Amino acid sequence: MASPSKVSVVTGGNKGIGYAICRGLCNQVGGTVILTARNEQFGRAAVAKLKEEGYETVFEQLDITDTYSIVKFKERVTNYYGGIDILCNNAGIAYKCASTDPLMEKAVNTLETNLVGTWNVTNYLLPLMKAGGRICNVSSMCGILDRMWPDKRHPIRLQLLSDALTEEAIMKIMRDYYTAIECNDYKHYKKDSAYSLSKVLLTALTRVQARLLQDDPRGILINCCCPGYVSTDMSSHKGPLTIDEGARTPLMVCQLVQGCTITGEFFREMKHFNWEGNYYYHKGEISNNDPSEHFDDYQKLLGAGYYVAP
Ligand SMILES: NC(=O)c1ccc[n+]([C@@H]2O[C@H](COP(=O)([O-])OP(=O)(O)OC[C@H]3O[C@@H](n4cnc5c(N)ncnc54)[C@H](OP(=O)(O)O)[C@@H]3O)[C@@H](O)[C@H]2O)c1
Repeated sequence: MASPSKVSVVTGGNKGIGYAICRGLCNQVGGTVILTARNEQFGRAAVAKLKEEGYETVFEQLDITDTYSIVKFKERVTNYYGGIDILCNNAGIAYKCASTDPLMEKAVNTLETNLVGTWNVTNYLLPLMKAGGRICNVSSMCGILDRMWPDKRHPIRLQLLSDALTEEAIMKIMRDYYTAIECNDYKHYKKDSAYSLSKVLLTALTRVQARLLQDDPRGILINCCCPGYVSTDMSSHKGPLTIDEGARTPLMVCQLVQGCTITGEFFREMKHFNWEGNYYYHKGEISNNDPSEHFDDYQKLLGAGYYVAP
């Protein structure tokens, strides 16, 4: 449903899934869609391209690893846009499997972007989120717990699943990975797994942030999702999904209807999915079957006027 007063922000909107999320928000939400990019030239080119396609977005510079850039962006949102209804934390990086860059360099760059950068953006922008706001962190199926720590008693897995988990503890798990690389000791971590670790910790962070927002009167929902395997530069265009198909689940998470209470959760293929392993939720129950047959129920999480065939 188009909402002329809504303000949406997408990080890494200049290409790939982020670009399609901006296009989808123009189509499905309307209002002001702020396409952000770290590179001004790329960002402005994307805004111009969307304009040619008939979509109106505005460009703002935002490098999620640069605190100065985040603070400037926050100032501009405060002064020119008033507040934020939808924040889609899409920006991310992944080294190619064939990369021979030093492990530590890959780990620090990947985790500082995908985890710490995303965390900072949300922390800085949270005061600007309006009542009923929605935050979507674009995570990945690479960050599923069963894939990272299949042993259900693994201490890090148990720590991440604990209701007492804190943001600080998540950052310590990240720093312990750096130590593991330094000491060449991979007892608790897979060796070259910075991307997966960044996404598993981002999902854990989403859960903690949702808990911290529980008593916030604005009723903000924060969830994360996997967009699927999408044909973008990141996947070297090997993914079978188009960027618009990849944008569908993030767009759904950005538009969970008022009254929806799902927060701190993981979605894939437009369905509520269990982050630990391999099952879906359906009507609050665990279901071992892909609940595509109940797709209408999922559609109800969306605003009126938006329908995507399963
Ligand atoms: N493609 C897939 O199959 C897949 C699967 C699962 C999850 N994901 C996730 O989906 C999201 C989008 O990925 P994609 O496939 O669309 O990748 P992509 O085509 O490589 O696009 C990534 C976007 O993030 C931006 N970015 C990177 N670092 C940034 C920073 N420090 N500040 C601001 N923007 C930054 C990039 O900007 P530049 O153009 O300046 O580099 C680009 O706009 C990522 O979070 C990714 O992990 C993708």
